[in-house]
Amino acid sequence: MHILLVGGGGREHAIGWKLAQSKLCSKLTSAPGNGGLAALGERAPIRATEITKLVEYAKTHGVDFVVAASDDPLALGLVDACKAAGLRAFGPTKAAAELEWSKAFAKGFMKRHGIPTASYEVFTDCDEAVAYARSMDPSEGKPIVIKADGLAVGKGAVITKSIGEAEVTLREMMLDAKFGESGKRVVIEEYMTGREVTALCFTDGERIYPMPPSRDHKRALDGDLGTNTGGMGVITPVPDYTTEIAERCMREIFLPTTDGMRQEGRSFSGVLYFELMLTPDGPKVIEYNARFGDPEAQALLPLLESDLLELMLAIEAGEPVTPVWSDEACACVVVASGGYPDAYQTGKPISGLDKIPSEIVVFHAGTSVDAAGNYLTSGGRVLSLCAKGKTLDDALRTVYRHIDKVRFEGAFYRKDIGKRVTV
Ligand code: AMP
Ligand code: GLY
Repeated sequence: MHILLVGGGGREHAIGWKLAQSKLCSKLTSAPGNGGLAALGERAPIRATEITKLVEYAKTHGVDFVVAASDDPLALGLVDACKAAGLRAFGPTKAAAELEWSKAFAKGFMKRHGIPTASYEVFTDCDEAVAYARSMDPSEGKPIVIKADGLAVGKGAVITKSIGEAEVTLREMMLDAKFGESGKRVVIEEYMTGREVTALCFTDGERIYPMPPSRDHKRALDGDLGTNTGGMGVITPVPDYTTEIAERCMREIFLPTTDGMRQEGRSFSGVLYFELMLTPDGPKVIEYNARFGDPEAQALLPLLESDLLELMLAIEAGEPVTPVWSDEACACVVVASGGYPDAYQTGKPISGLDKIPSEIVVFHAGTSVDAAGNYLTSGGRVLSLCAKGKTLDDALRTVYRHIDKVRFEGAFYRKDIGKRVTV
């Protein structure tokens, strides 16, 4: 089969790497892809947001299956457009993906279906939002969480610790359009405490198949300092996500979500991402995403023993599947460009990739290849280095033993991924 994989980050490289191993995959094209995906097949020079061009490409190039891996094309209705053109496509429809592209929709949905999450209010008027923030009184020591309603590349949630900070954030989002249209509407919510865990699941809308739990490290710097990023490293499994908690999540969160979406006529098919906070009152949803996490996919897919393409085809067709996962651990550490997630430079030559041993899988995110075949940086998150191990400590040791071999000007990575966890 000819597969068109839409996106160009580390997640897409990991998905493409796994799809290319399938006996059913005869050709893999990525759009727009990246330096890593270039080694797995062709790249179509189409951005992930150019829905009409993507569908046209698929129709004219004999594409059998479109895999929509990133958030923007899902929010723009890529899957709907493919289906309307008679193409098979993996991922939720635009209406189902609203769980991710509107936080206000997601919060309302959880309220309607009794799914545990932080209490909240939605605002489109900045003065009203500021008045509400004042009434929450962060001087009592509880931060106020302010979120842009729409997609904001993982940076749209701000935890403010004073009313002054809350006001500045609200004005930047709502009046100065710091996140463009995404921030015109904001959600202000209660601050939750606890440990975070990502629960990714395959679902055909009815049946739900949890993947091993994983834990992203979102802040830019060691010690969970610095601003939120798209994710600087991931561990899986997560020792404090016990079987008991997993069963509770299935009962109180996962099934009510897929059931609720079906009841609302928005059946969700694809990968559903539950970002959870394990609070003293039990697990609560921080947010939903409508696709694999990045970099969660990079840590999880090396552990998937089943054929990913077979799984995706069956999920899309609504047929039962039996995903098989290795019981090993996996660690993923992201190497980023200096300055990320704020301003950073690109076009820096990357060296040392040939010195990384084969026990580490290197997934490319922001890389490109020049005419001479050299890799250059082209984004904020540049590479993810992933290793499996019998234990998490083994996996982390392997990555950290070799990570300094990869070099480019300004490169940095977190040195404490998985540090607070021992297995
Ligand atoms: P989000 O963009 O919703 O995934 O939020 C990014 C990060 O902000 C999360 O990974 C949490 O660390 C933090 N966060 C978001 N919402 C809350 C909340 N209600 N309480 C505490 N922390 C939160
Ligand atoms: N790693 C967070 C995300 O993919 O949204």
